[in-house]
Amino acid sequence: MRFVLLLLFIPFSLTAQERPTAAAIASAQPLATEAGMTILAKGGNAFDAAITVSAVLAVVEPYGSGFGGGGFWLLHRASDKRQVMLDGRETAPLAAQRDMYLDDTGEVVPGLSMNGALAAGIPGQAAALAHLAEHYGQLPLSTTLAPAIRIAREGFEVSEYYRTMAGFRLEVLQRFPETAAIFLQDGELPSLGHRIIQTDLAATLERLARAGHAGFYAGETAQRMLASIERHRGIWQQADLEQYRLIEREPIRFSYRGHQVITVPPPSSGGVALATILNILQGYQLDELGEAERLHLLAEAMRRAYRDRAEYLGDSDFVEVPIQRLTDPYYAAGLAASIRLDQATPSSTLPGIGGEPGGLHTSHFSILDREGNQVAATLSINYPFGSGLVAEGTGLLLNNEMDDFSAKPGSPNAYGLVGAEANAIAPGKRMLSSMSPTLVHSNDGVAILGTPGGSRIITTVLQGILAHVDNRPVSEWVAQPRIHHQYLPDKLYHEPEALDSVVKKSLEARGHQLEASTRPWGNMQAIHWRISDGRVSAASDPRGEGLALTDK
Ligand code: DON
Repeated sequence: MRFVLLLLFIPFSLTAQERPTAAAIASAQPLATEAGMTILAKGGNAFDAAITVSAVLAVVEPYGSGFGGGGFWLLHRASDKRQVMLDGRETAPLAAQRDMYLDDTGEVVPGLSMNGALAAGIPGQAAALAHLAEHYGQLPLSTTLAPAIRIAREGFEVSEYYRTMAGFRLEVLQRFPETAAIFLQDGELPSLGHRIIQTDLAATLERLARAGHAGFYAGETAQRMLASIERHRGIWQQADLEQYRLIEREPIRFSYRGHQVITVPPPSSGGVALATILNILQGYQLDELGEAERLHLLAEAMRRAYRDRAEYLGDSDFVEVPIQRLTDPYYAAGLAASIRLDQATPSSTLPGIGGEPGGLHTSHFSILDREGNQVAATLSINYPFGSGLVAEGTGLLLNNEMDDFSAKPGSPNAYGLVGAEANAIAPGKRMLSSMSPTLVHSNDGVAILGTPGGSRIITTVLQGILAHVDNRPVSEWVAQPRIHHQYLPDKLYHEPEALDSVVKKSLEARGHQLEASTRPWGNMQAIHWRISDGRVSAASDPRGEGLALTDK
């Protein structure tokens, strides 16, 4: 089958009269979903609920996201159809240096970008929530942050999953007494049902509720963060916190088989990579391909998009990212020209550039309110429990997002991702992300989706979009078994149930090196609103502990 360049642009936009028959929230934690629904019931809109869900996740999923980290909040406002990405990504401290994680011989020092004060970027979540409240929400922060403050004070119960995540990072959590005092029990893994109480965090959130942005980036919270970082030989300065800004960015938009995909621009690599992959797939009649051929094609498209990610993607405020070119269907046609349906292309034969599967850390949630406002947000502190360091007296667990920079060209990070110049460390720069909260609009529906999963986020969202375009129910977008290719290492990863033995043989015969993942990946939270009858359905990934609710 030949690649056919399809340049159908189907203009599409929701009309203001269209309204869903129910509101919905899908998030990775039941307490966060329930608190968000309460805020909607109190008259808050989707943006108010997004503040509440983000804040409760920070409290009850400390290994996933938090005020010591950042994220991307993709918004669609029904009243004027404004679509915007709130970029609350962490930044490199102003004293950061390109080679700060290398030793004298130019080798990466293991752990330096992962653990402790040097691993932490300047947090963005507080700025994002203050901005959401000021410009998009209807309720004061004192109302929307109240559930998180209460749960921080009263505590939440340790689950089996909490124990797994804490066990994974136990040695780092034990290293910092202020962290161990909150997240461990007598310095060891807490028992099931033990309550995690976060009194300092509650006070930090109260200062944010009272004074907004300045209640976090100046005053007591700021001073305590700086003092703690200094004590642990980090490099943050007051100017880092004073200068941190939330940035509103124009989303990336492209069409795919009659659907408009609205997704995230740099500093996420997700939107550009999704555009590349879907533009390639658009040239094939996917429904005429056999299962092995279809998965082979997906893997080949993924491989090419991740190669480009490694070369071109970085913070577009610092480096020139050729977004137009990379998202152009003609560019995808060029990439597709080297795809053979009977044979894998070894990654080593693609033009050169100068892990660990992502589990349930990092967090995504999706929200739809009855007005039709939409939020897709993916939040992170990077690795489980981030850098492991709690800034003393604030309860803030600081991220280790600095590891998302390319510490050295070609040297893989924690997710096995390689990068080059575009994603090199520079003062004030945002590190490249894979987080890809996404909206898909068409004449018959709206999809709101996203997931954690490190380097696998983009391909997981991709498979969610494909399931939606195939008219499969939202429960299948989140549950279906997944595959993943990221250029290097040159392997086709798959969840065990994703491939049967016939398909496996057929992929191996094409030259793919298959690797079954022993652990599942991703934790997708998704909502579907069907325009024709207004019906709303929501689903939470069965791999996680999440909860999806509608109010009807
Ligand atoms: O921004 C990124 O791409 C990573 N820091 C996300 C990390 C993640 O998803 C961890 N996973 N489960």
